[in-house]
Parts: sequence; structure tokens; C-alpha cells
Amino acid sequence: MLNFEFYNPTRIVFGNETIPRLDELVPAEARVLVLYGGQSARVNGTLGEVREALGSREVQEFGGIEPNPSYETLMQAVELVRSQRLDFLLAVGGGSVIDGTKFVAAAVGYDANAWDILETRGVNIRGALPFGSVLTLPATGSEMNQSAVVTRRETQAKLPFRSPHVFPRFSILDPSKTYTLPVRQLANGVADAFTHVMEQYLTYPVDARVQDRFAEGLLQTLIEIAPQVLDESADYDSRANLVWSATLALNGLIGAGVPQDWSTHMIGHELTALHGIDHARTLAIVLPANLQVRRQAKRHKLLQYAARVWQITEGDEEQRIDAAIERTRAFFEKLGLPTHLADYQLGVNDIDALISQLETHRLTRLGESGDVTPAVCRRVLEASL
Ligand code: NZQ
Ligand code: ZN
Repeated sequence: MLNFEFYNPTRIVFGNETIPRLDELVPAEARVLVLYGGQSARVNGTLGEVREALGSREVQEFGGIEPNPSYETLMQAVELVRSQRLDFLLAVGGGSVIDGTKFVAAAVGYDANAWDILETRGVNIRGALPFGSVLTLPATGSEMNQSAVVTRRETQAKLPFRSPHVFPRFSILDPSKTYTLPVRQLANGVADAFTHVMEQYLTYPVDARVQDRFAEGLLQTLIEIAPQVLDESADYDSRANLVWSATLALNGLIGAGVPQDWSTHMIGHELTALHGIDHARTLAIVLPANLQVRRQAKRHKLLQYAARVWQITEGDEEQRIDAAIERTRAFFEKLGLPTHLADYQLGVNDIDALISQLETHRLTRLGESGDVTPAVCRRVLEASL
């Protein structure tokens, strides 16, 4: 029986030349901290457009937020906000900058040690500074959700947290801001969004027909636009469809009231923390193996996925499931994302450390039924060698 509550307060401003809208979206009296990553936002002019749109407001900047943002760097931003009594944050970048900004927003007024936010996955957050985002990389959906992932370099712990207090107030989605993205990041974006849909769709049936059809529509859209997206001369329309697909893949809509998996993500986070592999690339390694190892528990949805997303109708059930998993793997490979640990010079001897990290982080009952134990994760990693 479907039973859920859906809440999403983020205002989306979507389209070409939308950065000037910041003037109406950010309060006139705000004391703003603009947060960004390395140099991309400055070099491609986005930061300049943002400064111009903010006009005469008090504006300070904090750059240097890394991919897979670190607690150590973000705490410097927390100090800056406190010492300068800034009261509005604006993230300019991809998932890492937006996630980092969510952490800063929650940490500034947090009573306990700020790392506790990650240890407790966000449940003790009682408030956060208001913030908005200007998205430059479609992938994570962070621009319209209440989640973030932060890494503590010291302990190689990459952990997620969530809280309704860290929804962005608004996000500006200008597809033309993706024009400067290297092909590698575009491919990562397609694969990340694709896997977000899969982790909410490919579980077991609960007769959530709207969520299923929306999820299948997003998967088909991503498959359809992938070749244009990767083309250097890609046009506005394919980028616009990528941006909107990635946002809708993880804004709560397709996940409302349905079982969710997330084991691919949690295993993937450990691969990033220990071996520095890009987030989306870890998913390309883990997802096909995860589907293979857990094909019995997922068989109904695998058959539905085979028929509706890949139009696989030939063969018996086992053959159709095999074909659907193979198509998934081939899709990632065609994007340029390798799907085996060996492609990253990792082998069977690296699995113990990954399993022990999952145990340290209490990620021992993963999956839609809570039955993805460390032993199952080991089988998944062995299947991805
Ligand atoms: O640092 P700069 O110089 O800005 O370069 C960035 C960075 O090197 C570059 N880039 C961004 N926009 C660009 C650009 N280069 C040229 N032109 C542009 N327009 O891209 C590189 C990667 O950026 P990053 O923000 O790290 O990528 P992504 O958006 O994939 O974010 C990944 C992070 O998000 C987390 C991941 O774990 C990872 O830490 N996730 C967050 C989620 C969420 N909040 O819901 C869910 C996801 O599953 C994911 O876990
Ligand atoms: Zn992801």
C-alpha cells in the first residue's frame, strides 16, 4: 500500500541567462559568502557574473573546495562565516561545492563538534544558514535535495548526512554553464544520475506506477541524450535535458514511498575514500556486479527494466536478466567509464580494507531489505574484479 509524505522547498530557476535573477533571489540586506571549487568557475566567467548580479551586497568569497569536499577545508569556511558574521551562503559549482555549502550551513550554529553531523548522519541538526546554488555540473541532484557527502581526510571517512534544514532555498540551473565541462565530467554526470534512478527503482515491486514510469522515463532520457551530451559541440537542448534529468533523479520525487537500495553508493564511497576514484566511476564498477549478485531478490524489477528500458523481449527470464545487466555495463563502458576494479589496478587483495571500512562506518545492513551484509558486499566486489 503506497503511503508517503513528500516535501521539497527548493525553488528552481531554469534557463539560459538566469544568473542575473540572483538579485531577486538573495535578500537585499544579506551578507553573502560565495563558495566555489578550484578555478573553473572563475576561468569560465561564472563567478564574475555572480558577483555582478549580487550588486552592492556585502560579498566575500571562499574558494578551494575540492572534489569530494573535505571536512578540514570546510571548517575553514565555517570559521570565516562566524568571524565575519555572514548570514547567507551561495554555492557556485557542482555537487562537491553544494554539498560543502550544506555542511557549512549546518555547522555554523551546531552545538557539538561539527564532525558529529556526519557521525549521526544529520539527525541532530536543528537549523542551518539559508543558502542557494548556481549549478555548473549536472550529476548529483544536490541542487534540489537535502543530502550531502563529506570526507574527513585524516581518517579517510566519506560519510553522508541529510536534514530538511539543508535544502537549498533556490538553485539556478543554466544549462549553458555546462559548456566548459570536460567530457569526463559529463560522462560522470550521466552515470551518476543513471545510478541514482536505479538505486530507487531497481528493488522490488510495490505497485508505485507513477514512480516506476517516471524512473523509466529518466533512464530512457539519459540513454537517449548520452551521445549528444558527450559530443564536444553539444547544443543547449541536450545539456538542458541532462540538467533536468539529473535534478529529478534525486529530488525525492521518484523515491517517494518506494523501497530504496543505496548499497552501490555506499560501497562506491569507500572506493573513493581509499583509492580516490571519481564518485560516478565507482558506481560504474559496483552497479553491474551488484545487480548480478542480487539478481534473485531483484528479479521482478530486473525483468521490468529489461523490457521497458532496453526493450529486451527475447529469451527466457534468466537470459533477459543477463542481457539487461550487460546493457547496463555496456552503457557505462560506452560513456568511457570502466566497469572493473582491475581497470584501476585493484585486485582481490584490496577487498578486505574496503569491507573493514564499511564495518567501521556501521554500513553493515544495506539494501532495500537490509540484507546486504559485509559478506554480500564482498561478493559484489569479487564480482567486479
Ligand atoms: O573545482 P573546479 O575547478 O570548479 O572543477 C570542478 C571539479 O574538478 C569541475 N567543474 C565543475 N563545473 C565545471 C567544472 N569544470 C569545467 N566547467 C564547469 N562548468 O568538475 C570537477 C568535479 O566537480 P564535483 O563537484 O566534485 O563533481 P560532482 O558534481 O560529480 O560532485 C561529486 C560529489 O557529490 C557527492 C559525491 O559523493 C561527490 O563527493 N554526491 C552528492 C550527492 C547528494 N548531495 O545528493 C549524491 C551523489 O550520489 C554523490 O554522492
Ligand atoms: Zn551519486
